[in-house]
Amino acid sequence: MTSADLREKYLKFFEKKGHKIIPSASLVLENDPSTLFVSAGMQPLVPYLLGQQHSAGTRLVNVQKCIRTGDIDEVGDTFHHTFFEMLGNWSLGDYFKQESIPWSFEFLTRELDISPDKLSVSVFAGDGDAPRDEEAAELWKSVGIPAARIYYFGKEDNWWAAGATGPCGPDTEIFYDVTGKPCSPDCRPGDNCGRYFEIWNNVFMVYNRRDDGTLEELPKKNVDTGMGLERTIAVLNGLNDNYKSDLFLPIINKIEEVTGKKYEENIKPLRRIADHIRASVFIISDSVEPSNMARGYVLRRLVRRALRFLHKLEAESQTVLKIAESVIDNYSPIYPELKANSEHILKVLGEEEKKFEEPINDLELYKQDLQAAIEYQLIKKIGTDRVPILSKPGIASGKYVFENYQSYGVPPDLAQDIVEELGIKFDEKELEQAMVEHQEKSRTASVGMFKGGLATTGETETKYHTATHLLQAALRHVLGDHVHQMGSNITSERLRFDFSNPKALSSQEIELISELVNQKIVEDLLVTREVISKDKALAEGTLAFFKEKYPDEVLVYTIGNPGGEWFSKELCGGPHVGHTGEIGRVTITKEESAGMGVRRIYIKIA
Ligand code: SER
Repeated sequence: MTSADLREKYLKFFEKKGHKIIPSASLVLENDPSTLFVSAGMQPLVPYLLGQQHSAGTRLVNVQKCIRTGDIDEVGDTFHHTFFEMLGNWSLGDYFKQESIPWSFEFLTRELDISPDKLSVSVFAGDGDAPRDEEAAELWKSVGIPAARIYYFGKEDNWWAAGATGPCGPDTEIFYDVTGKPCSPDCRPGDNCGRYFEIWNNVFMVYNRRDDGTLEELPKKNVDTGMGLERTIAVLNGLNDNYKSDLFLPIINKIEEVTGKKYEENIKPLRRIADHIRASVFIISDSVEPSNMARGYVLRRLVRRALRFLHKLEAESQTVLKIAESVIDNYSPIYPELKANSEHILKVLGEEEKKFEEPINDLELYKQDLQAAIEYQLIKKIGTDRVPILSKPGIASGKYVFENYQSYGVPPDLAQDIVEELGIKFDEKELEQAMVEHQEKSRTASVGMFKGGLATTGETETKYHTATHLLQAALRHVLGDHVHQMGSNITSERLRFDFSNPKALSSQEIELISELVNQKIVEDLLVTREVISKDKALAEGTLAFFKEKYPDEVLVYTIGNPGGEWFSKELCGGPHVGHTGEIGRVTITKEESAGMGVRRIYIKIA
């Protein structure tokens, strides 16, 4: 069966069951700044799962483009990908388990001709949040799955949520038994031993997780299912390698042709090149440009990793374009936008390669130096005048990598790839420390790459920057502690601030917030800066934008008395005014929606 057949069979099957076919959404959801890329078919449907009416009705089906970068390091094995397609069908408060489970079984066994003996399933074992899903188990038994192949697992396996908050619920997963042979007496679906492949996940989305972490029942019971196209097509064709299916084969063949290297002899690099270029083509087509921030950074990282693997295979420059063309050719029949955007896609990739030429050469130099240092145990001898390349035997110096980045633009994440390739460890703490010290010196850089929004730091921008902290603290005082910064943007004209909040603000709330900010300005509070450990900072209630992105030692800005009564404490790179009185009066000029559960406020300084 071809992938085109599978997509079509899936859509037709559910169309016959009353579903409307909807197109794949873009990988980038413009009105949802909280997600970088769509990572599941349900994500563009969140408002409808929460209760809003969908114009196509209550039964939907589609094939959705998805990106998951969490697994980037796994790419190179037979089945992990950064880009993938998800076949999904949804009930928005329409049918439920009684229909969903028999339909899945019917599709797999009748339409795809999978023998029922090959199928095992798992269901939710139950906990304080939701009961044991005997209903799903009974339904599986009624279609013919014996009790011995029905497994009960907890939240880790059988609960699905797209994020920390939002719609979620227990699920039932369907596995295909590839080998029929247990890896051990405890062999079970989900243990990733290579026997069972998860091909479909049916989520019974009946809850919403609120910002405070508690669950509420949704007004209607939904079903959200997802089947990975790459995996399923490989399984159906008896392939033990997704890259051998028609989704990848023409791309792999092209890479072999343009590099002159055989797949079987260069399996991992060829898989990574194919995966990363395929993902990059789709991301660029959905209007993302390489940059050092957020989505653009993910794209840059994918392109640069692919380029580096090509470089290692001694590919000629601009080879990436030929591979990208094969991706466009292979996918345009299904995604015509790729053909339409092909000129732009190739231009972006070509320019990115040119920008990366020097760093990639420096990266290779780094590798050679590192290799020599390991081989000859020249710990102190190789490196710059001040920093050796190895900080201890078997440990690559983070400080050295930082200096290399500062001087030559060699990206630290790629340097880390090299360290891993050479089988030694990387001193990540030292890299973070070097970054903090650098920020200390420059005082203008922002701590987290997502913090952003502060292009230039003139006097006015600095005032707006401190006003941002006052605003966030005031929002939390008035609306509650669920408020978190989702993004900000400062110009010399205004501050734009995005934050989590389930509903629009009332005019009274807006007034209270602006009064509180202005009161703190009139009080002329002291703004102080200190470097403390991240743990201490968080224990003191310091606000962090994305906790995990910060180094161990962090810069904290306090408005008020740092050791006594303070109004705001935030992890931040600065710069800020010395006293809040310097800001002047602020006015909230606008409050609007910025996507599901996200509000946006504009502020002007008079
Ligand atoms: N949202 C679920 C998943 O991604 C089912 O589609 O697995």
